[in-house]
Amino acid sequence: MILVTGGAGFIGSNFVLDWLAQTNEPVINLDKLTYAGNVQNLASLDGDSRHIFIQGDIGDSELVKSLLQQHQPRAILNFAAESHVDRSIHGPEDFIQTNIVGTFHLLEEVRAYWGQLDGEARSTFRFLHVSTDEVYGSLRKDDPAFSETNRYEPNSPYSASKAASDHLVRAYHHTYGLPVLTTNCSNNYGPYHFPEKLIPLMIVNALAGKALPVYGDGMQIRDWLYVKDHCSAIRRVLEAGQLGETYNVGGWNEMPNIDIVHTVCGLLDELRPRPDGKPYAEQITYVTDRPGHDRRYAIDAGKIERELGWKPAETFDSGIRKTVQWYLDNPAWVANVQSGAYRDWVATNYAERTE
Ligand code: NAD
Ligand code: TYD
Repeated sequence: MILVTGGAGFIGSNFVLDWLAQTNEPVINLDKLTYAGNVQNLASLDGDSRHIFIQGDIGDSELVKSLLQQHQPRAILNFAAESHVDRSIHGPEDFIQTNIVGTFHLLEEVRAYWGQLDGEARSTFRFLHVSTDEVYGSLRKDDPAFSETNRYEPNSPYSASKAASDHLVRAYHHTYGLPVLTTNCSNNYGPYHFPEKLIPLMIVNALAGKALPVYGDGMQIRDWLYVKDHCSAIRRVLEAGQLGETYNVGGWNEMPNIDIVHTVCGLLDELRPRPDGKPYAEQITYVTDRPGHDRRYAIDAGKIERELGWKPAETFDSGIRKTVQWYLDNPAWVANVQSGAYRDWVATNYAERTE
């Protein structure tokens, strides 16, 4: 079996659902259930004995030790993290605790567990660390896309904490020989995306008749990948990645934020027109920019394609249409995630941004 951490979050839950749709290998899912963790993402697995959900912290050494001893996983996939840049600006401490200290404690327990294995169990064991392109910092307009050899130049507390975790993972390979793999992926979008991030926020705000808050001039560029393509890349790296290597994962799809917002509005105009017949784009408002806002991210996904034969299956057009349709088809999920804590966050993040 495999152990997934953070498997109740956006990408982790998509990964667990896809994994169990494709194989019968059981998954232990260790998730702290922070505001971003949502067991409803996994509701379709209720009663499925291949999925064992444990609420807990990757930094809880005793818990991790006992899970490893009891279940003897052949691989660990570490998705657990604090993941939202704006939250890291308002309160970096949780990012340091989970992304750095938590990953350190997890690595220590994994090292001890792996150290006891022998034979094939030892040689085939893998620790796969899921990371982000944001560790490479910000690109200028004409810079080439990030390759695996780019310098780490993180600019936000979030990206700095992820960079630190990547370095720890690397060090555990070089120093202790731990069989690690790291993936650095671009911005994901798709089902179960918590509506604090750009794309789901725009969908739920548009439908609720609220403002669509675009930071700064809206010309910041991100490189978007449909979440299920990220999951297939992770499966491929787990299966065939070279130990100690890092793989950039991306969709070759750079777009300015404002174009993303217009695309979402256009799809909603088609699929769920406004009662007054006016375009959703009328709800766009430009608001105060994010401090230290990275201007451009772009991933060169050539290595994973060349060496492991991985390519995304979705285009942006097909993926964003599926995503908007998913939010329209799942109003109960959307309503449930907009709890009091969610509304508090929206007030914290947007109240001080002037138009
Ligand atoms: P998310 O915030 O939606 O989910 C994170 C999950 O981790 C939640 O379920 C949360 O409860 C859990 N968690 C948080 N702290 C924990 C702890 N201490 N112990 C156990 N569980 C804990 O994040 P996501 O978007 O699904 O991202 C998953 C991973 O992928 C992260 O490591 C992130 O850095 C990375 N990543 C995300 C993106 C993206 O666009 N979302 C892109 C590239 C890489
Ligand atoms: P986000 O989804 O938070 O991902 P990241 O910051 O990790 O790339 O934001 C994506 C882009 O959208 C980023 O440039 C910030 C911008 N953005 C807005 O313009 N308005 C918003 O309300 C949010 C949440 C993000």
